Amino acid sequence: MSQRRLADVSRARSTEQRLVEHVDRLGEEHPPIDLASVDFTVRDAAAVNARFGHVLDYTARVELEVDRNVLELTTMLPDPPEVDRHFYADVWQPQEVRHGQILDELQVRLGRPPAQPDLDTVSVKLRLLGALGRLPQVQDVSRMLYYLTGQATERSAVLAYNLLHDGLTELGETAAAETVVAQIRRQEPGHHAFYAMSARGLAAQLAGWQRWLVRRLRALSFAPVGANDAGQLADFGDVMTTLGIHRDLERFATMVGRVEVELLGAAERGLAVPPYVVAAFREAVELARARAAA
Ligand SMILES: [Fe+2]
Ligand SMILES: [Fe+2]
Repeated sequence: MSQRRLADVSRARSTEQRLVEHVDRLGEEHPPIDLASVDFTVRDAAAVNARFGHVLDYTARVELEVDRNVLELTTMLPDPPEVDRHFYADVWQPQEVRHGQILDELQVRLGRPPAQPDLDTVSVKLRLLGALGRLPQVQDVSRMLYYLTGQATERSAVLAYNLLHDGLTELGETAAAETVVAQIRRQEPGHHAFYAMSARGLAAQLAGWQRWLVRRLRALSFAPVGANDAGQLADFGDVMTTLGIHRDLERFATMVGRVEVELLGAAERGLAVPPYVVAAFREAVELARARAAA
């Protein structure tokens, strides 16, 4: 084995070791949130509902859709590395489902109907990737898409929960801000770190053509978290508007796209943010505006 190949192999091993330790630590330090620790008391249900009801509904739906995400994942990656399986099955899914249950309970207590998550529709796009993924080199492309989607999703969640937390605090809704949103928010950075670390480790092993293909497929398929059709994209636009993200769209997009700019070579081309991320966020805000006007 050449020196360079040897160095690659040992780097890959140490990334894997760090991932295993990270996932074990997450599992130990962050069990699913204990429902007994959540205080659903709301001072002014009508005010919270008017301002943030739809944000709670969107986030509850997305969190509850983890069950479908796992289905998508196993379609895309029929044979995932053990550490990925350990992460999504033992740590990530139980935490996210609980996030969804808590947010949904809060919105129901505000007098809203429960979220309607789609738990079992796997898109044709992903089925196709799953079929192609039987070829090992394409499987790495699928894995990279999965990690990039995961990191963008988790980053978006942290940013949105920060803003929701501040908004509820401003309304004087301390119980919801601290025991609902802050507790959930605390668990998201560990998810982001898992995906970012996995993406960095895998990127170092990709050939030029694989990186090119990942970039093409990301540009074709990128969507904001939870936006699977035009209606949901408009819903996301409403969430952005309520949280004030529309005023600072480029900065938000830059934070969401940071890891992929770094790994897919956009930074070398002088880009601070992938153009498809900005375009998708703009489209969401425009769709929301058009819907409100109609
Ligand atoms: Fe979550
Ligand atoms: Fe998460």
